[in-house]
Amino acid sequence: MKSKRSLVLLVLILTGYMNSIGAEIKNGRTAEKVDSLLSKMTLAEKIGQLNLYAGGWEFTGPVPADANNQQKYEMIKSGGVGAMLNVLTADGTREAQKLAVENSRLGIPLLIGYDVIHGYQTMMPIPLGQAASWEAEVARQGAQVAAREASASGVNWTFAPMMDIVRDARWGRMMESPGEDPYLASYMSKAWVEGFQGGDLSNPETIAACAKHFAAYGFAEAGRDYNTVDISMQTLYNMVLPPFKTASDAGVASFMNSFNEIGGVPANGSEMLQRKLLKGEWNYQGFVVSDWGSIGEMITHGYAADTLEAGYKALTAGSDMDMEARVYENSLEALVTSEKIDMSVLDDAVRRVLTIKYDLGLFDDPYRYCDADREKKELLSKENLRIAREAARKSIVLLKNENNLLPLSKKGQTIAVIGSLAGSKDVPLGSWRAQAITNSAVSLVEGIQNAVDKKTQVTFTNGYNLTQGNREFIRELNIVEGDQSDFSNAIELAKKSDVVVLALGEDCWQSGEGRSQTDIGLKGDQMDLMYELLKVNKNIVVTLMNGRSLAIPELDENIPAILEVWHLGSEAGNAIADVLFGDYNPSGKLPVSFPRNVGQCPIYYNHKNGGRPVTNPHDAGMVFWSHYTDSPNSPLYPFGYGLSYTSFEYSDLSISTTEMGTSDRLTASVKVKNTGDKTGQETVQLYIRDYVGSVTRPVKELKGFEKVQLEPGEERVVKFTISNETLSYYRADLSFGSEPGKFAVMIGGNSQKTLTTDFRLVD
Ligand code: BGC
Repeated sequence: MKSKRSLVLLVLILTGYMNSIGAEIKNGRTAEKVDSLLSKMTLAEKIGQLNLYAGGWEFTGPVPADANNQQKYEMIKSGGVGAMLNVLTADGTREAQKLAVENSRLGIPLLIGYDVIHGYQTMMPIPLGQAASWEAEVARQGAQVAAREASASGVNWTFAPMMDIVRDARWGRMMESPGEDPYLASYMSKAWVEGFQGGDLSNPETIAACAKHFAAYGFAEAGRDYNTVDISMQTLYNMVLPPFKTASDAGVASFMNSFNEIGGVPANGSEMLQRKLLKGEWNYQGFVVSDWGSIGEMITHGYAADTLEAGYKALTAGSDMDMEARVYENSLEALVTSEKIDMSVLDDAVRRVLTIKYDLGLFDDPYRYCDADREKKELLSKENLRIAREAARKSIVLLKNENNLLPLSKKGQTIAVIGSLAGSKDVPLGSWRAQAITNSAVSLVEGIQNAVDKKTQVTFTNGYNLTQGNREFIRELNIVEGDQSDFSNAIELAKKSDVVVLALGEDCWQSGEGRSQTDIGLKGDQMDLMYELLKVNKNIVVTLMNGRSLAIPELDENIPAILEVWHLGSEAGNAIADVLFGDYNPSGKLPVSFPRNVGQCPIYYNHKNGGRPVTNPHDAGMVFWSHYTDSPNSPLYPFGYGLSYTSFEYSDLSISTTEMGTSDRLTASVKVKNTGDKTGQETVQLYIRDYVGSVTRPVKELKGFEKVQLEPGEERVVKFTISNETLSYYRADLSFGSEPGKFAVMIGGNSQKTLTTDFRLVD
């Protein structure tokens, strides 16, 4: 028996070894091919590979008429373009590839990039929503669907996942982010990368991913997009960089640097981030693309005097590809011929880009991703929609459920569905909607109608209108204020109904790029309507559709049941109905803290203690504590928070030892019991605190979690292993390691409510 096991082990080890040798040989062969191609390339052709253009015309139509696009067209033909973005459809991308492959001297195929962020045509929940599932499969499968659809349409490279840590809900791009915590963000980001790329980039159903935005874009001052970032090295290393390191280790094909400056240096000009850390210490082999126009923006930042200097600073710092700034195109030839930039620096950048093209199989068949037949079958397929619905229901978070108002009965009730957001087939599609068809989501009211039996009466009216005019990715949104013309209809319906499902929140164009807000409450006439409805019917369930954490203390105070439903994608209405009627017991947990008011931003659970934390301010009766005079410090709903239709009780926290050495492992266990009457899932969360460090440490840090499903009355012991690595961090000198001393281990159902015990780490 023993020898059989050893044999199996040996085979496994050998297979692993052979696989790694196989990968090495493949990499070696690719490197040879890349070098051979590189040796044939002229200076102009090399620079061309670093040039990323946006497509501005129909590739299946006539030659572009305007001068700008005509110039792009000629550049592609001459081999002056390495990659394109926003070129669409299987036929369109095929034409673009043809232009490059059939006309340029060396016939090098294009990378075709696109923002496939939370779906291509079948929309998944926004990334912040997916993060609320705390489930890698949600991310992985969603990205797989997106990759299958996008790749059939000719896209071979996505600008995702976005893994910016965000603590300030004023920033509109919170919707794209996995939230405020580096552990959860790393966990989700790894799964997104794996979903997009699969195990083999040359598989025509997978696409190259891009870890963005490197780095600290989410720390824009005052939550204003594109604003300055001023961040300490400790926060950068311990909070912002972990998901990027994880993505690099997971073999993400590319990185995108961020728009912001960091420590006075625009990120795309940061040698520290790109050369020293990413390509140096992390030994990252993929390439770095700059964000849209950002190399040119070095001049606006006041970091480069002109195009020549911007080109010099960006390339030497490690930005390999120029997205639409046209700076490399206009500077690199002069910089290399005057020997200001060594050819080896240029070659390194080109080599990285060509390697990904080989890995994608584009040199074997440049048209492998442009498959009109597959495109027809793949987009919005039944299977893709099934996965979207599953992801959507797992992303919903139950915030409040007084007197078990939820789940609702499907039988014989009168349900008033109120709110323009409930009728919208568009808002749930979200902000980074790629090729989603306008108005193609299942609306909330449709979802409810699909779910109920014939005797149930479902009525609907808008109640409020949130926006008017254009709703577009690139344009400002107009919020409607003071239109209460449909209030009376809504009140009438509410009066006649057993229960009101009231959809409140944000239009999807209130969040996303360039959508920062100073007010993160509910806009327009939504609150007025809520108070009017409460006068006639107390049985109100609010479904909150939004792309950021909102400040909603009045809702929490007055509404008995609240569901956070984000912008859930194509199947939104069905998924919300699954939860409203109890076909799915909500299991999501918040990936960001919900503040009480905007003045608390930035707010996050893993903050420092400070020298004067609030301990008991009222007894003290004095003001000299770190507090607000008009609000508690704590969030309305903390990170990790989310209820279920059943209840869970935590007890018996125990640790295997109270003193652990650096090479030991400590087991922390806790008993979790389902004390309600429904089967439910609970995400059991492990936090630690390092009481004293060479630099101050957060009061709490997530270090693990496990999702368990328990039957009514069932209890289970959940165990976590704590190793030296769990306790390590980037210390005062930025080395990664632990420091001996006292630690707390905390386990619970959210970041605020935990059982706690202490242990010591000894040398
Ligand atoms: C965004 C990126 C995006 C790029 C290409 C930029 O404005 O910041 O996240 O990938 O545009 O569309």
